[in-house]
Amino acid sequence: MKKFLLAAAMLIAPFATALASDEALLTEARKVATTLPPKLIVALQDEIKKSGAEGAIPVCKDMAPKMAGEISQQTGWKIKRVSLKARNDARAIPDAWEKAALEDFDKRAAAGESPAKLEKGEKIGNEYRFVKALPVQALCLSCHGPVDQLSPAVKAAIGQNYPNDRATGYAEGQIRGVISVRKAL
Ligand code: HEC
Repeated sequence: MKKFLLAAAMLIAPFATALASDEALLTEARKVATTLPPKLIVALQDEIKKSGAEGAIPVCKDMAPKMAGEISQQTGWKIKRVSLKARNDARAIPDAWEKAALEDFDKRAAAGESPAKLEKGEKIGNEYRFVKALPVQALCLSCHGPVDQLSPAVKAAIGQNYPNDRATGYAEGQIRGVISVRKAL
């Protein structure tokens, strides 16, 4: 019996260790991915109050990637925002893994799951990858809502900066995109 238990333990131990390290990676990835959005929301709220939605465009355009870059440097994780309906073609087109997660999240949100809770973490090859859904809130609608509800100034600024914009027509509770983080192991 003792021998059997020892053999069983030896068989199970590597899996248990692998599970523990996956759990630690998931926790770390989640922490990195949830650092940026609340800061961005505060900055957007402040700037919209001060200078209107059109004046807040640089928050999403310049400040978001800058803050992502800083968090990357501090943590060693690469950070992106991607979407099935990208505004910025140069930065926000999802790769195959992100696209599959985005499509799965849309289905699950449509079936009633809370979008704020949708996330996926996975070890792929020599990398750990994690995505977390970014739900549309009332605050987002002045720049991502139905086109006929955007102010003329916002429409003009978006048209000028993003000729291929697809990121309008959203309603509250839909998923605007994901924050996507990855780290080489
Ligand atoms: C003041 C206007 C404005 C508001 C408000 C705003 N956004 Fe954006 N959003 C933009 C702009 C401009 C971009 C393009 C950024 C770039 O050039 O990378 C963008 C890009 C994004 C992206 C990256 C993917 C893409 O399509 O390029 C996500 C995700 C996103 N916004 C989510 C949100 C969410 C969620 C909210 C509400 C919490 C929000 N945005 C509020 C203007 C805004």
